[in-house]
Amino acid sequence: MPPLLDITDLHVSFDTDDGAVQAVTGVSLRLERDEVLGLVGESGCGKSATALSIPRLLPRPAATIEGRILLDGCDLLRLPMPELRQLRGRRIGVIFQDPMTSLSPLHRVGEQVAETVRLHEKVSAAAARERALAWLTEVGIPDPVSRSRAYPHELSGGMQQRVMIALALILEPDLIIADEPTTALDVTIQAQVLDLLRRLHRRNSGVLLITHDMGVVWEMCSRVAVMYAGEIVEEAPAEAFFAAPQHPYARALLDAMPSAATRGRPLHAIPGQVPSPLAWPSGCRFRDRCPCAFARCIEHPPLIPCGEGRTARCWLAEAT
Ligand SMILES: Nc1ncnc2c1ncn2[C@@H]1O[C@H](COP(=O)(O)OP(=O)(O)OP(=O)(O)O)[C@@H](O)[C@H]1O
Ligand code: SF4
Ligand SMILES: [Mg+2]
Repeated sequence: MPPLLDITDLHVSFDTDDGAVQAVTGVSLRLERDEVLGLVGESGCGKSATALSIPRLLPRPAATIEGRILLDGCDLLRLPMPELRQLRGRRIGVIFQDPMTSLSPLHRVGEQVAETVRLHEKVSAAAARERALAWLTEVGIPDPVSRSRAYPHELSGGMQQRVMIALALILEPDLIIADEPTTALDVTIQAQVLDLLRRLHRRNSGVLLITHDMGVVWEMCSRVAVMYAGEIVEEAPAEAFFAAPQHPYARALLDAMPSAATRGRPLHAIPGQVPSPLAWPSGCRFRDRCPCAFARCIEHPPLIPCGEGRTARCWLAEAT
């Protein structure tokens, strides 16, 4: 049986006035049904560009997507648009950081959630409304009957986010893409949303979870992929990753993670900046910031196997 999601050699670029932004260069990833894969990395490293390529939700014509993205063996990049639209929502659910990306300001939220069901399934209006209410309850909307009659602007940001999550998950898609789903939420709602994702995942869906928060990865993910400057620099089972990250960038990210010992103190920031995606530097893209850089690092390292199910894009991994 093919994996749920199989991405091979993905390249994403954006045509801009300054030239071509090489947002993603050669990313390959696999996700099985029983997995939550955490995709982490600093801002601008290409996480959203990678994730939004899957349902082809990047702005056209600015974005060019090349490579192969298979969902259960079906090539999404070559699928005609009407068929892809059918898959969005039903088989692929996307949760964005900004809820207004998927909510219409002109319709009541209950209607919007019910309409998603009606678009994909032959059910009566009453049954769709009932399902919508059940899901608004499931994502923790207090007083869902009256709130379902509200327009998005009448709800708080956290509540809009929960409606959007209901919208993305109501058809119980096989693949859930969650791009910073909890960043805008307070801690209590964040825990509820993560719990919801965990439960859905147990119902046999695979989750691609993008986050800045290593604590969320620790709690949720079975595997971790670290992106830096448009490419994967480390991929590993979560337990092995947290026990001993192999790539110096992954180690720096973990050092920046707040722990009981560092709580209340400033985070350990990674010195320097991600290089410009208009012209990636030759050699290892992390070289300017890497405390371990040595002569060989002027060559661009491939992903090097470094343990059971692990790879790291670092010449030091050759020694492991
Ligand atoms: N529509 C666009 N037009 C031009 N450049 C873009 C566009 N969208 C993204 N980019 C650029 O592509 C690169 C990767 O962006 P992306 O949004 O994937 O980063 P990210 O890892 O998701 O960051 P963040 O953590 O801030 O969300 C960045 O340099 C970004 O500026
Ligand atoms: S290849 Fe060299 S510069 Fe790059 S992460 Fe490894 S040690 Fe650092
Ligand atoms: Mg992003």
